[in-house]
Amino acid sequence: MIVDKLGRRFNNLRVSLTAACNYACTYCVPNGKRLMKAQNELSAPALLKLTELIQEATGFEKLRMTGGDPLVTPKFEAFLLGVAKLPLEDFSLTTNGQLLLAKEDVLRASGIKRLNVSLDTLNPLRFKQIARGGDLETVLAGIERMLALGIKIKINMVPMRQSNRQDILPLLDYCLERDVELRFIELMRMGHLKADSTYQNEFFSMQQLLDEIASKYTFERTDAPFDSTAVRFNIPDAGTFGIIANESEPFCTSCTRLRLSSDGYLYGCLSNAARTYVGDLVDEPKHRALPRLQKILLSALGDKQLAFQGETTVMKFIGG
Ligand code: 5AD
Repeated sequence: MIVDKLGRRFNNLRVSLTAACNYACTYCVPNGKRLMKAQNELSAPALLKLTELIQEATGFEKLRMTGGDPLVTPKFEAFLLGVAKLPLEDFSLTTNGQLLLAKEDVLRASGIKRLNVSLDTLNPLRFKQIARGGDLETVLAGIERMLALGIKIKINMVPMRQSNRQDILPLLDYCLERDVELRFIELMRMGHLKADSTYQNEFFSMQQLLDEIASKYTFERTDAPFDSTAVRFNIPDAGTFGIIANESEPFCTSCTRLRLSSDGYLYGCLSNAARTYVGDLVDEPKHRALPRLQKILLSALGDKQLAFQGETTVMKFIGG
């Protein structure tokens, strides 16, 4: 097994099925244009073959489908059903939720047990301003349907000082009422935000969040497992919430993630633009592909950082 001197290994593969998205969120897309695929995106069979090869090389136990939005591509069905057959401890996906109702049948057929929905506000006007696509009611209906099917939901919210600070408590209430875990993601210096004053104006820290939540709830911090990115909090008799505090409490030294982009590149670290093309391994016999992949993985593990610096790479290409 490939392990670095901090004990980090790849146990968690995130596969971006497409860079296309039916939203154009302000923090992800600078110009508001949406639905762009990356050039030369790989097919579902190719992504599955690479996934299996990477699993053979690393023994990873968890897989998450991301994007773009993974539900907008016709590849989604085949990839999801393929992943469902792999020997995994857990598979999941991150979506903006717009197509959950439309994809209900395949989600049921796959036996998926949990998924993350990105939702930054419950206010229809602010929803339009932040997501710049989609429709809030459809997302909420999708969430209710998934819960009715017994699928566990986590909601990702990116709290921003100017855009949606007033939505923090309403979203928390919404989640607590439904036994859904809310995870706040501190705004990351990714893509256009890496060198933009918007970042400073919008960044809302873990401490600011906790102060806001303390105006309504009492809570205590709980222990999180080694490779968890979220700091977890318990609100007695009400539920839990988490904070992914890239800035305030970077979790890089225990990161076990590896990313495969829809156009066939492996990334060892979200905060490092270094990447290696692996799309061509699909056409090689396994006895040649595997040793090449081992070398690439060793170098990708070396790309991991000690703290999150941000990167100019765009989230929709690597899937967050
Ligand atoms: N900072 C924080 N979170 C982000 N996401 C996308 N871009 C950023 C950013 N710059 C979130 C999405 C999704 C998750 C995968 O990452 O909202 O929920």
